[in-house]
Amino acid sequence: MSDFRVTAIRSLHAEFCVPGDKSISHRAAILGALANGVCTIRNFLPSEDCLNTLYAMQALGARHDVLAELTGYGPTHLVIYGQARRLCPPSVPIDCGNSGTGMRLLAGLLAGQPFDSELFGDASLSSRPMGRITTPLGEMGARIDTRGARPGCAPLLIHGSHLAPITYQMPVASAQVKSAVLLAGLFASGRTTVVQPATTRDHTERMLAAFGVSTHQDGLAIAIDGGQTPQACEFHVPGDISSAAFWLVAAAALPGSRLLIKDVGINPTRTAILQVLGRMGAHLIETVHHSDGEPIGHIEIHGAALTGTTILPAEVPNLIDEIPVIAVAAALACGRTVIRNARELRVKETDRITTVVNNLRAMGAEVIEFEDGLEIQGGRPLHGATIDSFGDHRIAMAFAIAGLFAAGETVISNTECVNTSYPGFAHHLQAILEHQSTPDAFILPTRSNL
Ligand code: S3P
Repeated sequence: MSDFRVTAIRSLHAEFCVPGDKSISHRAAILGALANGVCTIRNFLPSEDCLNTLYAMQALGARHDVLAELTGYGPTHLVIYGQARRLCPPSVPIDCGNSGTGMRLLAGLLAGQPFDSELFGDASLSSRPMGRITTPLGEMGARIDTRGARPGCAPLLIHGSHLAPITYQMPVASAQVKSAVLLAGLFASGRTTVVQPATTRDHTERMLAAFGVSTHQDGLAIAIDGGQTPQACEFHVPGDISSAAFWLVAAAALPGSRLLIKDVGINPTRTAILQVLGRMGAHLIETVHHSDGEPIGHIEIHGAALTGTTILPAEVPNLIDEIPVIAVAAALACGRTVIRNARELRVKETDRITTVVNNLRAMGAEVIEFEDGLEIQGGRPLHGATIDSFGDHRIAMAFAIAGLFAAGETVISNTECVNTSYPGFAHHLQAILEHQSTPDAFILPTRSNL
């Protein structure tokens, strides 16, 4: 098992890119495979989660060729031979690994196919709730058996069928559920509408538009007409702001630092982390340089002495994946930070409320746990500790950032999991640790020469 050994840093002056966006890469693999021709995908994220989705689409008949790859990980630039909606039955069950996004989106897609299929995942994924997708997909006419040891959990045995359109009021603000219903709606006869309780990330809607499939938005409701065929296109995946978030927090909490993250996705349904760090006192400059499809830009951040903040309920879906590292920023800030309305964290790759609370306490922070969140009284000095990631990539990375501010050594154990979303994280961490003796900015290119 690998680990990270982290000590405190004195400065952070850097420019680099983070790998491609995980949410967008999953969708690119799926829509590329459904399109009516050859699609080119640039800056695909070769993480385990997205590779599982790419291989799933291959198992359903859509081949791909690799044009460039991140050595040791997988393709970053590829062409996918779209099947014009005609997928073939997989010969074996499909492995979704650790990925809730992969499993839920694929379930939506497979619900409307004229064949049966099975989706399974690792122990973490097999304990996550799937009723949130089997309910609407069942209302559309698919029969999905949850075969897990825990009720309502994977493996999923999907008996695909002809789907009827529905209007579905989502009980949880989940982009995965919205996307599963929209993908099923693409194969239903008529108009399927999904109504969100709050705005969630809109990558599926944007990606469908890029592939020539129209959706209709009316407030929090999104509708899709079944029967449309995605048109092959070229798609450039922006850097993942959820991966950038780790370095943004490191820079934000270190007065005198300057960090430039280039070519990163700044879709407004994902950028609440920037507002939060701004409220906490960091100075941020966002430059948009491409705004068709998915907006892409540079984020420059200058560190400051941070102060605590309250996360607003409407912000929670927009920064749900960043909460572990926001909690680290809160421990480094002066004053109280309150994060409530975030019960969803309990059903992520781990129960992220409990793992964050326990790990922060192990490093000396003062934290109160609530059923739906946590409250951090910041400003207590952190000390090194041995921290378990519990196999959760975002916990491993968030606590590596905490280690950059702790007295003594912090050891994060069980860190292979970072490859589920951020191949190359260890390389970036190492570069930041090694540049402590030179105050000059270092530039770390990522895509081709990690
Ligand atoms: C994702 C949506 C989010 C997020 C996950 C990726 C997606 O989950 O936590 O990492 O790609 O749609 P929700 O379904 O809770 O929105």
